[in-house]
Amino acid sequence: MRVTDIIGLLLPLALAEKLVIPEVEEAVRLQLAQFSEYYVDADNQTLDSLDAFSSHNARGVEERQASSYWYESIAHQGISAFNDNPASYKVYRNVKDYGAKGDGTTDDTAAIQRAISDGNRCAPGACASSSSTNAVVYFPGGTYLVSSSIVSYYATHLIGNPNDVPILKATAVFNGFGVIDGAQYQAGGVLPYGATNIFWRQVNNFIIDLTAIPAENAATGIHWPTSQATSLKNIVFRMSSNAGTQHQGIFIEEGSGGFMSDLTFYGGKYGAVFGNQQFTVRNLAFYDVVTAINQIWNWGWTFQNILVSNCTVGLDMATRDANSKEVVGSAVFFDSSFVNTKIAFNISRNANSTPRTGGSLAIENVSLRNVGTAVNYGPTTTALLAGTTSSTVITSWVSGQVYRPNGPNKLAGTQEPFTRPASLLSNGKYYQRSKPSYAELPSSSFSSVRAGGAKGDGKTDDTAALQRVITAAAASGKVVYFDAGTYIVTSTLFIPAGSKIVGEAYPVIMSRGAFFNTINTPQPVVRIGNPGQSGIVEWSDMMVSTQGAQAGAIMIQWNLASPSGTPSGMWDVHTRIGGTKGSNLSYADCPATPSSTVINNNCRSGNIAMHITPSANNLYLENVWLWTADHDVDDPQLRQITVYTGRGLLVESQLGNIWLVGTSVEHHVRYQYLFRNTQNVYAGQIQTETPYYQPNPSARSPFPLNTTSDPNFDVSCPKATAAANCAEAWGLVVKASKNVLVYGAGLYSFFSNYSTACSAAGASTLCQQGMVLYDAAATSNFRIYGLNTVGAYGMIYKDTVRMATYDYNINVFPSSIISFNNAV
Ligand SMILES: *[C@@H]1O[C@H](CO)[C@@H](O)[C@H](O)[C@H]1NC(C)=O
Ligand SMILES: *[C@@H]1O[C@H](CO)[C@@H](O)[C@H](O)[C@H]1NC(C)=O
Ligand SMILES: *[C@@H]1O[C@H](CO)[C@@H](O)[C@H](O)[C@H]1NC(C)=O
Ligand SMILES: *[C@@H]1O[C@H](CO)[C@@H](O)[C@H](O)[C@H]1NC(C)=O
Ligand SMILES: *[C@@H]1O[C@H](CO)[C@@H](O)[C@H](O)[C@H]1NC(C)=O
Ligand SMILES: *[C@@H]1O[C@H](CO)[C@@H](O)[C@H](O)[C@H]1NC(C)=O
Ligand SMILES: *[C@@H]1O[C@H](CO)[C@@H](O)[C@H](O)[C@H]1NC(C)=O
Repeated sequence: MRVTDIIGLLLPLALAEKLVIPEVEEAVRLQLAQFSEYYVDADNQTLDSLDAFSSHNARGVEERQASSYWYESIAHQGISAFNDNPASYKVYRNVKDYGAKGDGTTDDTAAIQRAISDGNRCAPGACASSSSTNAVVYFPGGTYLVSSSIVSYYATHLIGNPNDVPILKATAVFNGFGVIDGAQYQAGGVLPYGATNIFWRQVNNFIIDLTAIPAENAATGIHWPTSQATSLKNIVFRMSSNAGTQHQGIFIEEGSGGFMSDLTFYGGKYGAVFGNQQFTVRNLAFYDVVTAINQIWNWGWTFQNILVSNCTVGLDMATRDANSKEVVGSAVFFDSSFVNTKIAFNISRNANSTPRTGGSLAIENVSLRNVGTAVNYGPTTTALLAGTTSSTVITSWVSGQVYRPNGPNKLAGTQEPFTRPASLLSNGKYYQRSKPSYAELPSSSFSSVRAGGAKGDGKTDDTAALQRVITAAAASGKVVYFDAGTYIVTSTLFIPAGSKIVGEAYPVIMSRGAFFNTINTPQPVVRIGNPGQSGIVEWSDMMVSTQGAQAGAIMIQWNLASPSGTPSGMWDVHTRIGGTKGSNLSYADCPATPSSTVINNNCRSGNIAMHITPSANNLYLENVWLWTADHDVDDPQLRQITVYTGRGLLVESQLGNIWLVGTSVEHHVRYQYLFRNTQNVYAGQIQTETPYYQPNPSARSPFPLNTTSDPNFDVSCPKATAAANCAEAWGLVVKASKNVLVYGAGLYSFFSNYSTACSAAGASTLCQQGMVLYDAAATSNFRIYGLNTVGAYGMIYKDTVRMATYDYNINVFPSSIISFNNAV
């Protein structure tokens, strides 16, 4: 689709018929502003969000011309290398091959379910999780009538044609919890899998239509308890807006997410019901919903670029339990708009709330137009921040504990907003860009790695074949298509400027052998550009992993400089070390052994997960999970494992302009996030976990100190005097950097030597001493909204000085600081 078409499509919005001038103009303007990143995108790439949006609003999907999609017509030769039957197991399933009609009259429920369940997959209730049964269930354009839930299985991608977005239409007598049920309740009312272990799945490009279900009947679009490396993207929810409607778009009650973007909700009682530890949601639009977002519980939640139009309440987080305690931990909400809405934020936090920081909220750069009350104190219906019958912008307002850098100071009111460097912004908002779907390209523009000779079978050394395909594609302007599979590499894979790489169902690049196993001369597994080179690389939907001991593996090394205004990007690209079939770092190889102090060097794998080097800049990361496994994904009991990876994400980009949207980094030895000699970083939300084995061994081992960039525990935790839990992985370190702006951080230490006693509420000895560290001398404009820590005595350290202690800031489970500023 071209730029001109899009503007043409947007103007006759359905909304326009309902609003009077000048609201029409305002609505259109807001939508244009909301989606502007797509149509002004300099390389005209990503139109898919707008596509689904406009297909619903402007032309109506029924009238749309069916349009092909490269992924539907490309040869399907993806495999699951470590499946029990790799020769017969199908990764790709087109629902029409299983009998679905998509004709709007046939009940397609059973056919779709056959497409999902085919091939001995990881079914809810029968299987805990699996790394070798991933699948893509593809939906061509059409209207698929469903009478009960489409029950998704573990590691399943449900993907619609973005050029002809399929409609999942619930029948009037629909029965089930979710048109898509991402985790179907089992007998006894238990969720399958364990919501915090649900990884690696997506739902993209759908219209979910509940409008045939009578308004008074409860109905749900997607039930989605979920965790890291998952996403919902480019989905329209159509619900009844009749009085008393009981429809809801998304329902999440548990998990440790996660990311979602580009969602549009029409009508309903609730657009989204959100309950999960933490999440990043971006680019959501709610029209004519009673309550756009019902936050039932959380620790921390990041809301970026949200539009709420003609609703009663925008974000309702006024949730208390039977004992009047706050249930919602905190929310950070920014670059957003509320139009024709009664209450933007409904909260129940006040000066006397228990726990002390429960219900914390930060708002920044939120515009209101015809909004009754900006922030309403629910229990007594009192305006904490007034609305307006015309329009206004809330530059920054917070409720919670504030440190500047000393504290705690309780605040409910206006404060100065973060100082945003212009280079991180697009039209005054933080730059954003959704994952490219390359929907406009024909299948002839793609170059398959399997067609190019790589095997992806988890055995063959594919280094040379992959390099040939990648090099040739960059030279000829093709997109590299990684068919599903596990591709072994024995030396560095080089990705040159100009590369576009997209994977099917998270294909894995897996390092193996001696080249990556020298602890003091680490080598990149995947190297993006060489220092001094510039250009753009786009990379999505893949994983980088290791087999066996790889003590010198730099999983991803990013050297490439990119032009300002057109950053390079990495979407849904993850590192995954250990815990899976074929990794040789499973329970059988690397079991957790709390009662032993022996370090098994065969379980040292990964020197650093991702290094953004000094020469790199202008890089956008979205939904990236750098994970060293804490348990064996294929073990029926999910038993814990001990695998050592040296470091998480190291950012040393001198020019900076780094966006980290919905990223998490877990279980690395010395630190999770470390920013050093860098500048201009947007990060929201970031999430970390300390390795479960620490302090057995401590973070001093098994990787020797890198005196250039590692935090030096010998200085901060002198062996003779420091507590045993002092030398533990930092969640976040900022050294000699400026403009590091964090919008939501969940930094957790749940374990000490595999025991959770240290993170239990009221624990007297916490799991570790400190979580966030920055240097006083050389760091400037380091700010955090919504910092949540678990299991750390000191939430923030300035050098060796503890600035914030957990027990002054107790929240629903973590401790929370709603706003931190390293300078007064
Ligand atoms: C984007 O597409 C429009 C319309 O096809 C074209 O005029 C414009 O030059 C394109 N921009 C770039 C940077 O390719
Ligand atoms: C607002 O939403 C209600 C349904 O809640 C709908 O009936 C009404 O038409 C909408 N108004 C406008 C101006 O869009
Ligand atoms: C706001 O929250 C209170 C609970 O504190 C609730 O009773 C009230 O219904 C909510 N307001 C609206 C308009 O939903
Ligand atoms: C806030 O958002 C608006 C768009 O809604 C934008 O025009 C403005 O410049 C933004 N930035 C700041 C820092 O206010
Ligand atoms: C991984 O384990 C398999 C099966 O035991 C074995 O064949 C292979 O050599 C091992 N790979 C490494 C790198 O140790
Ligand atoms: C770790 O915990 C185990 C019990 O699970 C205990 O036997 C062992 O002594 C502990 N080790 C250290 C170093 O604390
Ligand atoms: C130490 O870290 C720096 C980056 O800060 C890196 O360039 C260097 O290669 C590392 N040295 C070793 C031995 O890993």
